[in-house]
Amino acid sequence: MNFKVLDKKIDDIQADCTIVLVLNKDLKHRWIKDSKILKKLGFKGENDEIAFSPENDTIYASSDSFESDDIRCAVSNAVQCTKKYNYKSAKIGLYTKKSPTANARALVEGIVLGAYTFDKYKSKKEPLTLKNIKISTEDYSDKSFNSDSIKNAIDEAIIIAEATNSAKDIVNTAPKEMTPKKLAAFAKNMAKEIESLNCFIGDENFLEKEKMGAFLAVSRASSEKPRLIHLSYKPKDAKKRFVFVGKGLTYDSGGLSLKPSEHMVTMKSDKSGAAAAINIIRAAALLKLPFEVHSIIGAAENMIGGNAYKPDDVLIARNKKSIEVRNTDAEGRLVLADCLDFAQDLKPDFLVDLATLTGACVVALGEYTSGIMGNSEELKNSMQLSSAKSGELAGVLPFNKYLRKLLKSSVADISNIASSRYGGALTAGIFLDNFIKDEYKEHWLHLDIAGPAYVEKPWGYNQYGASGAGVRMCTYWLKDFYYKENSVHKEDK
Ligand code: BES
Ligand code: ZN
Ligand code: ZN
Repeated sequence: MNFKVLDKKIDDIQADCTIVLVLNKDLKHRWIKDSKILKKLGFKGENDEIAFSPENDTIYASSDSFESDDIRCAVSNAVQCTKKYNYKSAKIGLYTKKSPTANARALVEGIVLGAYTFDKYKSKKEPLTLKNIKISTEDYSDKSFNSDSIKNAIDEAIIIAEATNSAKDIVNTAPKEMTPKKLAAFAKNMAKEIESLNCFIGDENFLEKEKMGAFLAVSRASSEKPRLIHLSYKPKDAKKRFVFVGKGLTYDSGGLSLKPSEHMVTMKSDKSGAAAAINIIRAAALLKLPFEVHSIIGAAENMIGGNAYKPDDVLIARNKKSIEVRNTDAEGRLVLADCLDFAQDLKPDFLVDLATLTGACVVALGEYTSGIMGNSEELKNSMQLSSAKSGELAGVLPFNKYLRKLLKSSVADISNIASSRYGGALTAGIFLDNFIKDEYKEHWLHLDIAGPAYVEKPWGYNQYGASGAGVRMCTYWLKDFYYKENSVHKEDK
């Protein structure tokens, strides 16, 4: 998709169709320009309402406000609507005098995210015809108007939304195709295409050499061998080092603690943390952020078989801690325990893991919201703030010392499940905390993206299937960190 910013009135711009956002509250006051047409179309301004007017080739999309996420939703709905009419170009206004860059960002993100389709397995493809979007700045009259900052915001928005869509592609791909080996090939390929990225792949022998006993045990029953993927981006004079760790279970059958069949479908999405980590570093590199960024992915399949790891097994993790296995379906934390230990060897300033770790997180926060956990209030809050800006929903879940005790094992240093079924998202997070060294405790965040990672009932601008959860939240967080460091004025973000 092509975006152009034009310092022209919208009526003076040539395009096949016009997208008009209608503020619901304005509709009540009836002052908007096309109110007669809207009346004729029976447009009520209800949530997510879309109306198409053939007489002026205009798509009207209702929006509750001009807050960024309402804009993303409205334009995404409008883009879906253009599909039916085969329009190739569309024009749209910026809708603000106050925050043109934020609006430009939201418009572009909403359009790129809304345009996503995954039709790889469909015989009949219905590709989006819309290719050119022309953005008019006509309603912006402030003297300090800076079209460069708008253009820059648009370029950034394209990178971030495309990285999100790329994560969706990884997750949506069927498990027989996106195996650990293929995921590694995907990462390697990406690093070939983006010059500033490097990629190291560790196979099962590497994991043996690294004594990653927990990670190896999870992968053992699968005929698909595990891979550790290490992507790195090291710009000159990098100011900080960020390490992202992604859970890359290309399939989670539950292992011997087998999942019931209705819970097993959609478990191709257990690689969502990996898909996010791969695409956060892609976005960071394309945005040319002045930070060193690493992504470590533990890719494996959790399967059953004669050599499967078992409940009652005791595993020795890379950091030498012994783990009693009481449930083979709590496998993500085992893979992450070893990957987090590996990641700390890189001496990160900030360490963030992303994982579809627990069903309990979905119970706690609902299916739209990710859980943020960790030991630093400041860090958790910073992620929550950036997440809100990015349009991803995230809530902080607080650790406590009583939950910590629930992971005690009678036979090993720690059990892989808690003795209580309550607070499962937190006990999983606390399990991971046991693999974080003291010096990194305050620098670590755990993001449980189990709720929003996979969409079974479309919502907002998220179609059926993967949502790319984690990509926007973490990329905005990195960007916000950069702006904070450089104290760039809020309006210019
Ligand atoms: N991959 C699942 C968690 C999950 C559930 C992700 C639903 C997405 C949607 C994870 O490996 C798992 O099975 N966790 C168990 C933990 C339990 C055995 C302590 C769970 O949540 O039931
Ligand atoms: Zn599991
Ligand atoms: Zn899992």
